[in-house]
Amino acid sequence: MSSRIAIIGAGYVGLTTGACFAHLGHDVVCADIDESKVERLSRGELPIYEPGLEQIVTDALRSGRLRFVVGAAVAAAECEFAYLCVPTPQGDDGSADLSYIEQAARQIAPVLPPNAVVVNKSTVPVGSTKVVERVLARPDVKVVSNPEFLREGSAVADFLKPDRIVIGSDDQSAAIRVASLYSSIAAPLIVTDPASAETIKYAANAFLATKISFVNAVAAICENVGADINDVVLGIGYDKRIGHDFLRPGPGWGGSCFPKDTRALVKIAEDASYDFNLLKGVIVVNDEQRERMVDKVRSAAGGSLDGVVIAAWGLTFKANTDDLRESPALAIIAALVKEGAIVRAYDPQVANDLPGVEVHSDAFAACEGAAVLVVLTEWDDFRLIDLDEVQRRMIGTEIVDTRNLLDRAAARRAGFMYRGVGR
Ligand code: UGA
Repeated sequence: MSSRIAIIGAGYVGLTTGACFAHLGHDVVCADIDESKVERLSRGELPIYEPGLEQIVTDALRSGRLRFVVGAAVAAAECEFAYLCVPTPQGDDGSADLSYIEQAARQIAPVLPPNAVVVNKSTVPVGSTKVVERVLARPDVKVVSNPEFLREGSAVADFLKPDRIVIGSDDQSAAIRVASLYSSIAAPLIVTDPASAETIKYAANAFLATKISFVNAVAAICENVGADINDVVLGIGYDKRIGHDFLRPGPGWGGSCFPKDTRALVKIAEDASYDFNLLKGVIVVNDEQRERMVDKVRSAAGGSLDGVVIAAWGLTFKANTDDLRESPALAIIAALVKEGAIVRAYDPQVANDLPGVEVHSDAFAACEGAAVLVVLTEWDDFRLIDLDEVQRRMIGTEIVDTRNLLDRAAARRAGFMYRGVGR
């Protein structure tokens, strides 16, 4: 059955959610405050790089099931469901800032049709469903939490083939109505109260961040005991209780979610009188991981980075996205530049220079005259690159591979000194 859905906020979550709901056959109106963005989206031009999204936006626009409008009230006026997909940036004390959510709720409150359901999709602190209810002040309108578990780079697949769907509501019939939007998707459905749904979102991200920090910590030990983290992960991953997923060592986790959400959960815990030392440790390990990568590059450069030319491959916080937010690559590069390094970078999705960094248009050009090559993002483009050509362009023979991406044996055959993570 087709429903009328308003999406408030055409950012990465809102756009994916709106386009995927339209793809499932619903009638979607997606609102943003940015007029030029709305204009571009209406022509099918996406402001972000997300594999597969452009195609479903284009198809949905053509079928008439997806429209973009300026202003939350315009979108919400005829909806049955209003999805709040606006940002929840980090406030000064680490907690999530709810002002965009509250503002959106204030704008739609007077125009929402009777008995509409408002859905929180943004990652919001525990208790926010109640905050939205208070701001709306519409007893006929129920507020439901329906957290997203979309990864950048595979957001469309994550939406259409999710591991689970979580719905939090104190009102059974509102929960069933939201569940019905996903009726064509086969996935476990967890219907719970709003506080539990909100907690599930934070706990999921914090647990995933914990896995990565754990593997990065074990990688540090591997380096000192002569073990290989890749084999260690393989060995532990076959234990079904552990699994292989999300145990890739790297330069530390980044992006718009993990850093913000881990800090927010520490704050939520604090407000709930629990000192979340475990998660604090996870964050510390992540900060240290970046420093450890800088140490590796410094050692590869012979002990000092002053005046050393470094080629940096990858700037985004992970592959298959153009998102630079809280990218470990940028943090590491900034630290190298601070110590006097001259950084020449290349990223398949970044064209413009960044502060203090020349961005080149191909991976080889970035290596010209470099003493050290550092791999910072796990783009497939780098995996099978011609390392002999890389060697010809560089003046040095050092590779620091913070993602264990390159073929170590091939790098050595090409004459490189190869340093990975945890091996
Ligand atoms: C993350 C979650 O995975 C999603 O489920 C969630 O919906 C989303 O946050 C959100 O809250 O909106 P995302 O930030 O797109 O998704 O990125 P991830 O794929 O989770 O990667 C996060 C960071 O961890 C990246 O820097 C990545 O390079 C790093 N990572 C990931 C590792 O270092 N090792 C791994 O094994 C996996």
